[in-house]
Amino acid sequence: MSLIIVDDDAVYSKTLSIYLKEKIPEILDTYLFTSPNIAEKFIEKNKSIISVIIVDYRMPEISGVDFIQKIQNSEDSYQILLLTGMIDQSLTLSIRRLKLFDILEKSEDFSKIVENIKRAYVFSTHIKKRKEKYNQLNLRYLTKKEDSHSFIDSIVGESQSIIKLKKDIKKIAQSSAPCLITGESGTGKELVAGAIFEESSRNKNKYTVINCAAIPPDLIESELFGYKKGSFTGANSDKIGILKSTDFGTIFLDEITEIPLAIQSKLLRFLQEGTIQIIGKNAEEKLDLRVISATNKDINMEIYHNNFREDLYYRLNVVHLNIPPLRERKDDIKILFEYFINFFSVLENKHNIKLDNEIYKFLMDYPWPGNVRELKNISHRLVLFSEDNKISHSELPLEILNYKIFDTNQNNFKESNNLLSKIEYEKKIILDALILTGGNKEKVAQIMGISRASVYRKIKDYNIYH
Ligand SMILES: Nc1ncnc2c1ncn2[C@@H]1O[C@H](COP(=O)(O)OP(=O)(O)OP(=O)(O)O)[C@@H](O)[C@H]1O
Ligand SMILES: [Mg+2]
Repeated sequence: MSLIIVDDDAVYSKTLSIYLKEKIPEILDTYLFTSPNIAEKFIEKNKSIISVIIVDYRMPEISGVDFIQKIQNSEDSYQILLLTGMIDQSLTLSIRRLKLFDILEKSEDFSKIVENIKRAYVFSTHIKKRKEKYNQLNLRYLTKKEDSHSFIDSIVGESQSIIKLKKDIKKIAQSSAPCLITGESGTGKELVAGAIFEESSRNKNKYTVINCAAIPPDLIESELFGYKKGSFTGANSDKIGILKSTDFGTIFLDEITEIPLAIQSKLLRFLQEGTIQIIGKNAEEKLDLRVISATNKDINMEIYHNNFREDLYYRLNVVHLNIPPLRERKDDIKILFEYFINFFSVLENKHNIKLDNEIYKFLMDYPWPGNVRELKNISHRLVLFSEDNKISHSELPLEILNYKIFDTNQNNFKESNNLLSKIEYEKKIILDALILTGGNKEKVAQIMGISRASVYRKIKDYNIYH
């Protein structure tokens, strides 16, 4: 399996890769990129063989954070680590948008950095294996089974908003009115949609989930509405659209704002008249469908920017459910955390895991930008890497551990002595390289990609006695 390092500082990535090769023999290939652009193309083409991607925070072309946003994808099993000279508040704020395995501080010992990368590697392999297993089975069936008996029972939480949400789901399920579910990413919209379906009288009929963002825009129309043979070049046979194949059932249109405007009007017509027009057919067909839709975007903003039809919004939003973010229902954090720890300890065969009480302070203070999904993933990792059936707060990811420090006292952090200046940092790399090569300056020069003279000069400048 392969490892990728994207860093404009070729010296650092080379040194790191040498350490990694030595310490993690399972890594077959390491690819180093100084250009994020080329790295992105490479990652796109080689997804299946990549286990770990390490990205530098400060790069001239694009920031590490923006780069990670481009390459992160919940479907892929590779794990991403952000490499940074220092963690400051702007970094802590911007990483909330990311799906990171961890943050690596360049000032840390290489041995610690290597240890973290190894964990990311182990985790990626684990996810990959589990995915392969999932793919062989019916995914929906598994989701249900995995999260206990039914969708509604698997909605965990005792906050007022969750209690109300469950009541609302039961009420909404009684009718066939279109329902729009809103809420930040990871709050449980898909889970709620499944629960509405399961509680409804249509639950013996089909339930189809479509992620509108996952279908290329020019295919959405034929996927949804279907077409008649010969209606356009390439239409070699009739295609039954998803709407028709779900007749009498429930359709869940996830990420609804991603439907192109041209198709929005066709969908509007269906919601108004209950009829669809199959491409290439003149006659309309009547369908009996319950439509549930969801978005994590601010739909009013999409309407304002003319990306979403207001009339369609009103049709979809006959019933509205909003799931509040986790930080607004803090009562649920502890319950969810314990539920997931328990769930994953059964899954991973690690029983009677003991949690250190300190953990909750950190969990309560953290704003959970990725909501329940983030909490779930973190719980899985904690269980997986727990030793002697214990989980201590120090095993929490850095962004959670550091959050409290930033939030309570910024100055405190600046004085923190685990930060190194750029000079100290470069000095450390040279020192590390010298140790690695047993003081062989020729080799250090090779590793660092600089001339031997520069090595001598730096040793002198930095007062390194070796
Ligand atoms: N209240 C909850 N109890 C138990 N599990 C939950 C709860 N809320 C969410 N989850 C779990 O968290 C994960 C994310 O939930 P889900 O996929 O429904 O989020 P979402 O709102 O659709 O996110 P996105 O907008 O990113 O698609 C799922 O694995 C889901 O089972
Ligand atoms: Mg979703």
